[in-house]
Amino acid sequence: MVTVHDKVFVPFIEEEDIRKRVIEMGQKLSDEYRDKNPILICVLNGSFIFGADLIRELDFPCELTFVKLSSYSGLSSTGHVQEVIGLELDLTNRHVLILEDIIDTGRTLNEFLNTLYKKELASVALATLLLKPDALQYPLKVDYCGFEIPDKFVIGYGLDYDQHGRNLKGIYQLKD
Ligand code: IMP
Ligand code: MG
Repeated sequence: MVTVHDKVFVPFIEEEDIRKRVIEMGQKLSDEYRDKNPILICVLNGSFIFGADLIRELDFPCELTFVKLSSYSGLSSTGHVQEVIGLELDLTNRHVLILEDIIDTGRTLNEFLNTLYKKELASVALATLLLKPDALQYPLKVDYCGFEIPDKFVIGYGLDYDQHGRNLKGIYQLKD
């Protein structure tokens, strides 16, 4: 168990299981993207560890950029999506792969995807380490998913609770 701020979290997905799954995802992505020189868009802050681990499983040319979108404060979504750090690369005619740590309601990515659809991309796909199917409120097509999890708050492996807990090596779930 770990305590972060005022909450207690219990072990949920072990470091070793995350590692195995990220390797599998990397293999699947390699089949699809080997000759496409894709641009990976890592959604900050939470995806920085997933992105760092996943990109090292890709043994072909690819590029990486970051965006920072913000819709969360504390334990629940606030409903506003802000682009705090915007896109720097020209995505025209490029194959784009979005990397997310977790999809909860899907609001953040839905808004971000709507901005991408206005550009002329060769393709766009979505890879997330975690997906909460029961929380999803937007019609997102999730192309690559690490783990489907219950609608409970989790931290670790990049994910935070009020900025803390990102440094935990495994993923921990809020205790009932
Ligand atoms: P959505 O827009 O509701 O899908 O929320 C997306 C963002 O909220 C994610 O990229 C995370 O940064 C954050 N988030 C959603 N669920 C959790 C959670 O269980 N733990 C930590 N952060 C979360
Ligand atoms: Mg995120």
